[in-house]
Amino acid sequence: MIWDNLQQHADTLRGRHLADLFADDPLRFHSLHRQVGPLLFDFSKQRLTTETLALLAEFADARDLRGWIDRLFAGEKVNGTENRAAMHWALRARAEGHIPEPVAGLFGEVADQLQRMERIVNKLHAGQWRGVTGEVITDVVNIGVGGSDLGPLMVSRALEDYQVSTAQPLNLHFVSSMDGSQLSHLLRMLRPQNTLFIISSKSFTTVDTLYNANTARSWLRDALGRDPAVVDCHFLGVSASDTKMAEWGIHEDNRLRFWEWVGGRFSVWSAIGLPVALSIGMGAFRDFLAGGHFMDTHFRNAAWLDNVPVLMALTGLWNTNLLGISAQAILPYDARLKYLPSYLEQLEMESNGKSVTRDGEPVDYSTSPVIWGEVGPNAQHAFYQLLHQGTQVVTCDFIVPAMRYHETDRAQVTGTLSGQHELALANCLAQSRLLALGEAALPQREQMPFYKRYKGNQPSSTLMLDELTPFGLGALLAAYEHKVFTQAVLWQINPFDQWGVELGKKIALETLSLIHSREDSDDISEQMLATRSAALRDSMDGSTVGLLDFIKQQRRGF
Ligand code: F6P
Repeated sequence: MIWDNLQQHADTLRGRHLADLFADDPLRFHSLHRQVGPLLFDFSKQRLTTETLALLAEFADARDLRGWIDRLFAGEKVNGTENRAAMHWALRARAEGHIPEPVAGLFGEVADQLQRMERIVNKLHAGQWRGVTGEVITDVVNIGVGGSDLGPLMVSRALEDYQVSTAQPLNLHFVSSMDGSQLSHLLRMLRPQNTLFIISSKSFTTVDTLYNANTARSWLRDALGRDPAVVDCHFLGVSASDTKMAEWGIHEDNRLRFWEWVGGRFSVWSAIGLPVALSIGMGAFRDFLAGGHFMDTHFRNAAWLDNVPVLMALTGLWNTNLLGISAQAILPYDARLKYLPSYLEQLEMESNGKSVTRDGEPVDYSTSPVIWGEVGPNAQHAFYQLLHQGTQVVTCDFIVPAMRYHETDRAQVTGTLSGQHELALANCLAQSRLLALGEAALPQREQMPFYKRYKGNQPSSTLMLDELTPFGLGALLAAYEHKVFTQAVLWQINPFDQWGVELGKKIALETLSLIHSREDSDDISEQMLATRSAALRDSMDGSTVGLLDFIKQQRRGF
């Protein structure tokens, strides 16, 4: 019933241009924006009205959103296919009020790991962490992929203005790509004596990460010898599997743990955030956690129509399922947020790129849209042409801080830099306006040739932070996390597993065995492997076999 009402309502709104919605109600910003803590969410440039919101809120009730939020925060096993809770929020929680088991018992463990992290951070900052030759560590390389890379990479770059000055300055590097190009480039520049590697992997089985880690270990051993102290002094591990870290050779004192109930794409709040803490210090890292906790509290308590993550989710559902918009661009107008689009691509699409319900029924509606993005001002010179004059309807998230540079120490150039921030703000506002209104945004309507026309009516939301602080960023990321969870509830899917990715990993390993195999070898075990590989190869499709053959041909002459 409620869905029929929504569809009928969508039929009446579908033909209406955003320019008309603003003309009808020039004050729509007042009813269609919310401010919570450091974040202002403006969704007045979405193709909806307050009537739409009321219907969407009814739909949220019909899907038992309240019950699901309660289950999430009670630590129930909301990740059915992996039989796990999803308690990333507990990493940033404060032990306040009555906390039900099993959550209460976790606070101590979370606090312990934060303390271990703090000891490591302090030691490195004080220049007391020495390599095996006694030289001080100057460079730290985080090896991870997916959430074990994008989280710490994105947040440490976003908060680079908050870098702490320490007795021992540290250079942070990130390596994720399995092909070795990032690592080989980096190893040419680093000195083994001064380099510490963090192997970040929830599972500690991800081949991308383990291959990079093995290459790093070989590089160190080639330079510094095979004494176990080399690994002890130059490797830290962060994982949910203590056993696997131990098997790889990480010293007990150098192992930081987190838990199965933290999904990889939700893990930056755990010890996976170690590079962030190394960059901004533990105090600011705790501010980041506090920002996340602030948004958790808001999400748990606010009524649907005052609840920013819920409104983000409802707006997304409206676009995807009622207006049929299947693409979303993430456009930060602040280059410190360069990696935010990639981070949100994983968060949203790995979580909600699903086509069966929690009960195993195929869905007959769309779930996650395709999400991509880029720093807005750069994207203006790349793909905005399609947004303005192409044929696809795309909804955009514009993300920008209102303030920047006002108290930085860049004394001589602060004035000029503030001007640059104003320029970015002006572009952010102008682009969202033009996308929404099209030619109606122009002060005077002039007759334009067909190739210059702007049709507009591209919906967008603007997420404006007061400033890009650790607290504000924490609140923003937690808002997106809860948006994703809310949409999963509305779509009746499990946002916390990623079985599609798992299968890809498995068949890549089989394919690797084919690329390795050498049928011309004299070695018996190589020949046996080649026989097995031949059977596997015969079971493959023609395209893959053709490509494998081309690789073999090329290698013969290599
Ligand atoms: O891509 C699948 C995935 O499991 C992500 O969810 C995760 O962030 C990434 O791989 C890395 O996994 P891990 O931290 O276990 O190495």
